Amino acid sequence: MRESVRVMIPEAEVDAMIEEMGQKISRDYEGQELRLICVLKGGVFFACELAKRITIPVSLDFMSVSSYGAGTQSSGVVKIIKDLDDSIEGKNVLVVEDIVDSGRTLNYLLDNLRSRRPKSLALCTMLDKPSRRVVPVKVEYTGFEIPDEFVVGYGLDYAQKYRNLPYIGVIEFSE
Ligand code: IMP
Ligand code: MG
Repeated sequence: MRESVRVMIPEAEVDAMIEEMGQKISRDYEGQELRLICVLKGGVFFACELAKRITIPVSLDFMSVSSYGAGTQSSGVVKIIKDLDDSIEGKNVLVVEDIVDSGRTLNYLLDNLRSRRPKSLALCTMLDKPSRRVVPVKVEYTGFEIPDEFVVGYGLDYAQKYRNLPYIGVIEFSE
């Protein structure tokens, strides 16, 4: 089997979306400070680009979670691999994710973060596959809604590969 990647969203379109989202976030939180929580590893490319385009004071923290599940399905049973370095109590928190799929992982993560009593808690995601949703998740900022296809690039992986592609692509297999 040979793998190849077809471009779904070119780099320039992703970058333009992030620029626009950064401006909107800067307006929405004007006069305040924002703690960006990047969900590793997939969210890291998007979070860095987004942070560069936000003009209000921003601090960054990172969290890594793994979702137990069979194959490509996440189960909603989530293990924290790396927790935040700092408390978020009383802070404006924006979670930065690569993609919302079933919503199970984020549903757990948002509940967990809410229990730490932030001043506000919101979610932004580069991609959303709404047709796959099993658990409802409130998303404040969505980059692109995409159909139910397995995507890679801009942080997203297939077996840990392709995260470094500067665009969003779909894997195709051929003999
Ligand atoms: P959820 O709990 O089903 O919403 O799982 C979301 C996580 O699954 C994302 O953070 C990704 O790590 C992974 N994921 C879901 N869809 C894709 C995809 O199309 N490509 C790569 N990873 C994906
Ligand atoms: Mg992820």
